[in-house]
Amino acid sequence: MQKNTVFVTGGAGFIGSALIRHLIENTDAKVVNIDKLTYAGNLQSLESVAANPRYVFSHTDICDRAALDALFAEHRPRGVLHLAAESHVDRSITGPAAFIETNIVGTYTLLEAARQY
Ligand SMILES: NC(=O)c1ccc[n+]([C@@H]2O[C@H](COP(=O)([O-])OP(=O)(O)OC[C@H]3O[C@@H](n4cnc5c(N)ncnc54)[C@H](O)[C@@H]3O)[C@@H](O)[C@H]2O)c1
Repeated sequence: MQKNTVFVTGGAGFIGSALIRHLIENTDAKVVNIDKLTYAGNLQSLESVAANPRYVFSHTDICDRAALDALFAEHRPRGVLHLAAESHVDRSITGPAAFIETNIVGTYTLLEAARQY
């Protein structure tokens, strides 16, 4: 366990990857990137920090409670920055189910895992 470990969900996305690069390059935080790698996730945006020992990638869906519990138990973070989302409004019209799953069920699942931890 490291004192200042933080989780970033959706860290392979537009905002999350910028946040992770900032945290690794400008702080001493250890960052666990929790991302399902949907069409929106792109690990190339994290190439500059990928080899840093304070960076960990977990290919995980935030709807997966057991996987989240295991990550909390293993890394014992002091904070969670939740950026995982279905974020493209046009897609919410053509395929709303993924939005319900990730943005509502996934956020709820993450909150419950954090509360229990
Ligand atoms: N981009 C903007 O300008 C902007 C502005 C204001 C608010 N926001 C909000 O910030 C958040 C992030 O936006 P973004 O632009 O980075 O989105 P994005 O679509 O670029 O990235 C979302 C990331 O979440 C991951 N993801 C999706 N479903 C997941 C799941 N079930 N489990 C784990 N990971 C999953 C994707 O793989 C992707 O890496 C969203 O809530 C968005 O509404 C974005």
